Amino acid sequence: MQQVNLGMIGGGTVGGGVFQAWRRNGSLLTSRLGVRINLLKIAVKAFDEPRKVEIPEALMTTDWRAVVEDPRVQLVAELAGGTTVAREMILTALRLGKPVVTANKALLSAHGEELFEAAKRHQTNLYYEASVAGGIPIIKALREGFVGNRITHLYGIVNGTCNYILSRMKAEGADFAEVLRDAQVQGYAEAEPSLDVDGFDSMHKIGILASLAHGFWIQPGSIHVEGIRRISRLDIQFAAQLGYTIKLLGIVKKTGPRIQVSVYPALIPDTHVLANVGGVFNAIFVRGDVVGDTLFYGRGAGQDATASAVLSDIADAALDLKFGTRHRIPPFVSHNPRGRVLPMARAVCRYYIRLDVVDRPGVLARIAAILGRARIGISSVIQPEGHEGRSVPLILMIHDAPNAVMTGALSRIAKLSAIKAAPVLLRVETFS
Ligand code: HSE
Repeated sequence: MQQVNLGMIGGGTVGGGVFQAWRRNGSLLTSRLGVRINLLKIAVKAFDEPRKVEIPEALMTTDWRAVVEDPRVQLVAELAGGTTVAREMILTALRLGKPVVTANKALLSAHGEELFEAAKRHQTNLYYEASVAGGIPIIKALREGFVGNRITHLYGIVNGTCNYILSRMKAEGADFAEVLRDAQVQGYAEAEPSLDVDGFDSMHKIGILASLAHGFWIQPGSIHVEGIRRISRLDIQFAAQLGYTIKLLGIVKKTGPRIQVSVYPALIPDTHVLANVGGVFNAIFVRGDVVGDTLFYGRGAGQDATASAVLSDIADAALDLKFGTRHRIPPFVSHNPRGRVLPMARAVCRYYIRLDVVDRPGVLARIAAILGRARIGISSVIQPEGHEGRSVPLILMIHDAPNAVMTGALSRIAKLSAIKAAPVLLRVETFS
């Protein structure tokens, strides 16, 4: 039976998970593929690092070049993370004509264009299923399953930490800071949570999906990003009264010739399937012009979910090596060189606005006049009973309007003497 020699870089959580899954299901893979995956070497940071999964010392080296440049190694899995040395590792392997499997979303987000170009130049492949949404095979679905579709809409809950925090805030009526602290204690959030809660991890992932779906490389700087720090329990409660749930969404929408690519917390109808994706789970809703609406759901992170995606890429790469073919759909095909991202200022959507206003006659009329002059339509107004005092919350639901027009009007509203705190603006996504 044919054999493919695999070299791995990284013996931490992801590398250890892949090693464990390979040991458990390696023979299953062999019988399914007709190729034996022979794990030849694993480069680790240090032999004596604490690791949850024991790796035999005979397999380990601390020199990544000894893995990548070993002439026996035919396939490299980069599972080390980071964006500097990892880039060099991958480029070195690709220059040697060796296919690479990676889980490194931050690296792909920053240097994807260069890495895919290098793979093409050296007539090999870069596989990246594990970089987005862990165990959910969304890259394969977009790359192969939906090859006959134009993707018109893609909405993703792609950060488990944020989804966990928002789900608990809603269930417990708790504040962001309180839930974040507890999530850190329980290991659901990092001690330095910015990558997750400020939306950057979602930005990496949604940029990768948007690039694949629309055939041009989307630079992270062109993605509008907002995180969840400013979400208050009050807004979660008012949204719930109105029949909505707040989720951090990655949004990729084709609007004419341009593509909206953004990450922000949005109110979504409770009746929509994404509103019911709770806890650390991820989900991606994809609409294709032929297939219609589809949904992918699963664990987006963690040792086993990521290992499942890495093994799938290793299997694909092994089959490509076995048949010596590059005729399968390559992992990233640039097919839309004139593709452009829509500036957020021009993106059109509905809004939820919460104002803190002095409760006196004429205030609502002044707010409505500013919105009317900007040609912004109000779809409903709520001033809940039971908040009497110096100021009261006033919630406005707003019809479709361009972002620049809405934020301009809101900054004029914020200057009214009756407005007592900075207005809250959240977007509403109706999936239409
Ligand atoms: N920190 C990410 C999340 C997982 O919470 O989903 C890795 O991308």
